[in-house]
Amino acid sequence: MNAPAAPLDVLMSTPALVARQINTYYGLSHILRNVDFYVMPQETVGLLGRNGMGKTTLLRTLMGLVRPKNGRITLNGIDITGRRPSAVARAGLALVPEDRGVFPNLTVKENLTFAARPCRDGAAGWTLDRIFELFPRLAERRSHWGNQLSGGEQKMLAIGRALMTNPDIMLLDEATEGLAPKIRDEIWETVRQIRAAGIAAVVVDKNLDDLLALTDRNVVLTKGEVVFDGSTADLKADPAFIQHHLGV
Ligand SMILES: Nc1ncnc2c1ncn2[C@@H]1O[C@H](COP(=O)(O)OP(=O)(O)OP(=O)(O)O)[C@@H](O)[C@H]1O
Ligand SMILES: [Mg+2]
Repeated sequence: MNAPAAPLDVLMSTPALVARQINTYYGLSHILRNVDFYVMPQETVGLLGRNGMGKTTLLRTLMGLVRPKNGRITLNGIDITGRRPSAVARAGLALVPEDRGVFPNLTVKENLTFAARPCRDGAAGWTLDRIFELFPRLAERRSHWGNQLSGGEQKMLAIGRALMTNPDIMLLDEATEGLAPKIRDEIWETVRQIRAAGIAAVVVDKNLDDLLALTDRNVVLTKGEVVFDGSTADLKADPAFIQHHLGV
């Protein structure tokens, strides 16, 4: 008997982001080693690995903040290898860095509007009103300076600012690091809403259970190499692997 045909949407879908054979160095330190990484449209990918394994370096490489020594990165079919972060952002990628990168001397509203960019396809997209709907806290503090915000509020602002660029893919480094449990839950809820809005995401976070509760696929880095790339179910089915590569 013939194998069942793959559903048409699987046959037709091509990755939004493809990074092939990426090697990134900091000086002489060889950090990323032949990394292959992709993100499908609307997919939520968990990027996992112990401390210092290269997660942030991969996000920074994708965003154009670090130039890979070799390898190729394409976004929506456009070669973005070696492009500047501003060009990468225009092509549809947004990074929410671990340190949030909020401008202390701009107000909440200014932080949100200065990087804003309309949707590339002419759709309505994310506006200030929508961000304030998503984060009522930021609406209340719209005239506060960036440096008057709590850590959680800064994280929300960084996410809001990334959304204002109307990205196809959001890169979230240490999504909930250092935040109080209640704020963490709010951030996870936001990540769910981003997913529901059809925006693909790559999420790094130390809380494995929280992360795996919302990812479609996961990539594990060990010493700059991809040691796992597969479904959340497959990862969860191998506790020994999890202990070996992610256990504390
Ligand atoms: N600017 C830098 N210069 C030199 N080495 C660096 C630099 N930034 C990171 N490294 C090194 O590169 C390696 C990968 O770091 P990276 O920050 O990508 O790891 P990570 O997986 O994000 O870790 P963490 O979980 O601690 O955030 C580490 O060995 C780190 O010490
Ligand atoms: Mg990191």
